Amino acid sequence: MSKNLIPSLEKPLDRRDFLKVLGCIACATAFSGLIEAEAQSTLEPFQVLAADELPQSGQYKLFKIGRTPIIIYASDTEVPDSLARDNVWLVAYSRRCTHRGSTLREPNASGVMHCPDHRQDFDTKTGIPVGPVHRTNKPLTQFKLETRADNSVWLTDVVRTS
Ligand code: FES
Repeated sequence: MSKNLIPSLEKPLDRRDFLKVLGCIACATAFSGLIEAEAQSTLEPFQVLAADELPQSGQYKLFKIGRTPIIIYASDTEVPDSLARDNVWLVAYSRRCTHRGSTLREPNASGVMHCPDHRQDFDTKTGIPVGPVHRTNKPLTQFKLETRADNSVWLTDVVRTS
């Protein structure tokens, strides 16, 4: 009868080995999440205003990029990362609520976008949560706007993620 002289490489995992395996799985999961987050923070340039579109203060335009509802708003005062155009400053925000992702309603007469699910309000000019309900303190995702040589306006990047 022959005897196997090669020691077995398979041995039961002790507690320390098991924790090492768990650590590797956690690292791999975190890394793939990071890659996914980076992929979402870049997007294809998207035209949002034609060369002859000149929004007035308080006016807005709604559209979608993929499944993300977006608002372009013309502010009467300068806002961080806004785009100056004639007498207004244009800003672009995702209309996904930063509490649990519901789509915000169109701005009301007070310049507030309301979440229909848990009643959080967001300031349309700044994208910051406002009002008596405090479901989230995260501002809306904001996008970068740029003017092209032909005077059209394009959404080109993410400047703030929620
Ligand atoms: S999803 Fe908007 S407040 Fe909860």
